Parts: sequence; structure tokens; C-alpha cells
Amino acid sequence: MINFDFYNPTQILFGQGQIAAIAKLIPPQAKVLMTYGGGSIKQNGVYDEVRAALAGHTVLEFAGIEPNPSYETLMQAVALVKSEGIDFLLGVGGGSVVDGTKFIAAAAVRDGEAWDILEKGGKIIDDALPFGTVLTLPATGSEMNGSAVITRKATQEKRSFMSRKVYPKFSVLDPSKTFTLPLRQVGNGVVDAFAHVMEQYLTASVNASVQDRFAEGILLTLIEEGPKALSHPDDYDVRANVMWCATLALNGLIGVGVPQDWSTHAIGHELTALYELDHAQTLAVILPSMLRVRKQAKRAKLLQYAARVWGLDGGDEDGRIETAIARTEYFFRHMGLKTRLADYGLDHASVEAVIAALETHGMTALGEQGEVTLAVSRKVLELSL
Ligand code: NZQ
Ligand code: ZN
Repeated sequence: MINFDFYNPTQILFGQGQIAAIAKLIPPQAKVLMTYGGGSIKQNGVYDEVRAALAGHTVLEFAGIEPNPSYETLMQAVALVKSEGIDFLLGVGGGSVVDGTKFIAAAAVRDGEAWDILEKGGKIIDDALPFGTVLTLPATGSEMNGSAVITRKATQEKRSFMSRKVYPKFSVLDPSKTFTLPLRQVGNGVVDAFAHVMEQYLTASVNASVQDRFAEGILLTLIEEGPKALSHPDDYDVRANVMWCATLALNGLIGVGVPQDWSTHAIGHELTALYELDHAQTLAVILPSMLRVRKQAKRAKLLQYAARVWGLDGGDEDGRIETAIARTEYFFRHMGLKTRLADYGLDHASVEAVIAALETHGMTALGEQGEVTLAVSRKVLELSL
């Protein structure tokens, strides 16, 4: 196991009726900015519950944070925070709202060019406003981590940052608030969480046994519960299991002490920036090809994955690995996602465009050992056509 320094200060309030508890977690004298997206929270009662919980607080609102939150929109919120003297943020929505709120929290206390936060991957953040979240879409893990992904529309760039200063103070996870999700977002969420586990688990073995078992437990649960979330959309227990899986997949716990990959995500971000595929759609296309192209480097873990997650432990090793990857792909399709670039009308020209973007953004040595060069990424993209 590799040395590590684990830090996660986010308080989680899980379950039905927990929104009411936020009143006690936000200082009574705080001037709060409630941030949200395109309006789903007004259709499923979340907006009303939050406003009722904060009846005794001073609350302003900033609506319109879009999926793949844009720098351009978020800078309007930063201006509002500064002009109104806001001192607490509350993000209410999916990963995009939570990520956007993290950016607002960091940018609002900064002088100078805010995009530098993304250029420097968050390293220049030395302070941020405190914030909480009410999560309505289980997927990203953003509700319990210090990462965010922001898109600059003007330059078609999707970049991420990470900082210990932008962990939410608290997050409310009420699974019943996910009943109204469109099935496309349910599938996206399950596939995103699955890919997060794979980016941290399917690397090189370092004898981190409990991290491996946690990771396999999350994968197995997503495989069991994910399809039920599609077929029984108002089953509370199913939604509760999916929701907690998504949080555990990227709250740091399974990633400590192990090598991490993230090359599928890096390529996926370029696909979203250029062609507006949903985040999880990019992962469903890229991950299977990434595993096939890097089969040798990941061989031991692929065999472990085949045996422990898919029950494949007899016969030819290469056959087991291919079957495990094919089942992964089948699972993504079962969750309603497509697994080829051509399914989105993308052809060879998109391969070159993504490679050029990776080069511009310095993404030339990705993966757990930096061995995903542009040539490897090109191979992965070609195999995904
Ligand atoms: O905007 P509203 O009207 O709220 O609608 C949203 C949005 O259209 C809707 N929605 C959310 N909860 C709902 C609901 N509709 C009905 N009922 C509900 N309960 O769903 C749509 C998608 O929402 P979005 O927040 O964009 O989805 P998601 O949570 O998948 O977030 C995706 C973003 O997170 C980033 C992605 O790159 C992408 O920008 N990620 C963030 C990570 C992190 N911070 O650690 C890691 C991930 O790998 C990922 O990159
Ligand atoms: Zn993701």
C-alpha cells in the first residue's frame, strides 16, 4: 500500500426528511446564497423544503447553473456574492450545481483572474466561502469531495480543480428526491459512479486488500441495484443504495493508498467540451476501449475484476478478461447508455479533434503510470468508433 493522508470533513445527512436539519447547520446570522440549476427542484418539492428550512435565514437565490456548469454563468454568481456580501452558499441540485458552487466559493474570495483556479488545478486556492449542498442526483461524489469540473464555453475547455478548501461543510442526501430523475440521468449516475470506482481500482495491484474489497462491493451493488433503479423508479431502498454507492465511489476512501488512473475521464472531458455528450456517456464509450488497449498493464487487476465482480475464474485468461470487459460494456448498455462514438454520429474527425485538445491541455502522459500518451489515447479513441 502506498503512503497516504486521508482528509474528509463533510458531514452527511442521509435519508428522508433531512432537508429540515440544514437550518441548524447554517449560522443563523449568515447571508445565504442558494444556487440551483434549470428548475427541477421546483418540480419535485426540494425548492419548497429548502426555503421552509431556511425561513429564519436571509436567503438570496442564483438559478440557471447548467449541466457541465459554465465559467461564464458562474462568474455572474461570483459578482452577486461580492456585491451582496454573501457569506454562506447552499448548492441544491446535481453534480453540476455542486461543482459550480465550489467554484463560486473559491472565486468569490479571490482577486485576480478566476480562471487561474482551473489553470492551476486548484493549487492557488487558499481560502473559500463555506457552503453546504442538497444533492438531487447520485453520480459524481461531488457532495463529499473537494473536486469540481468547470467548462469555459468561449474556448470549449472543460477543466477540473481540487482543493481541501472546497469540501462541503455538509451534504443532505435524501434518496426520495431522486424519484423524479429522468431515466437517462439515473443511467448516467450509475455509470459515472461505476467508472469512478474503476479509475481507482482497475490499476496496478499494491496489496491494498480492503480498498479492493470496498471497490468490488460498490461495483457489485451498482450492478445489482442500477437496473432496479430503472425498472422500479420509486423504490426507496434501491435509490438509497445507489445514492450511497455514488458517494462512496468518490469520497476518497477507496482511492487512498492505491495508484489511480483517470485517463478515461480526461478523454471524456474533451468529448463533452467538443461535442456536448453527457459526462457519463463519454465514460461508457471510452472505458471499455481503455481497458482493452491497456490489457497488459492492467492484467492482474483485470483477472481479479473478472473473478470477483463477474464470477469468471476458469479457463483461458485472455478469454476471461475479454468477457469481463464485454460484460462491463453490456452493463452500460443495460443502463441505457451507448458505447460507441458512432452511436453519437462521431467519426474519425472527432478522434483527431480530441487528440489535438488533449495536446493543448497537456494531457499527454495520463494514467496510473503516465503511459497513456497521445498515441495510446488515439488507439483508445479509434477502438471506440
Ligand atoms: O438543472 P436542473 O433543472 O436541476 O436539472 C438537472 C440537469 O438537467 C437534472 N436533475 C438533477 N436532479 C434532478 C434532476 N431532474 C429531475 N429530478 C432530479 N432530482 O439532471 C440534469 C443533469 O444534472 P447534472 O448536475 O449536470 O448531472 P451530474 O450530477 O451527473 O453532474 C455532472 C457534472 O459533474 C461533473 C461532470 O463532469 C459534469 O460536469 N463531475 C464532477 C465530479 C466531481 N466534482 O468530483 C466528478 C465526475 O467525474 C464528473 O466529472
Ligand atoms: Zn465521472
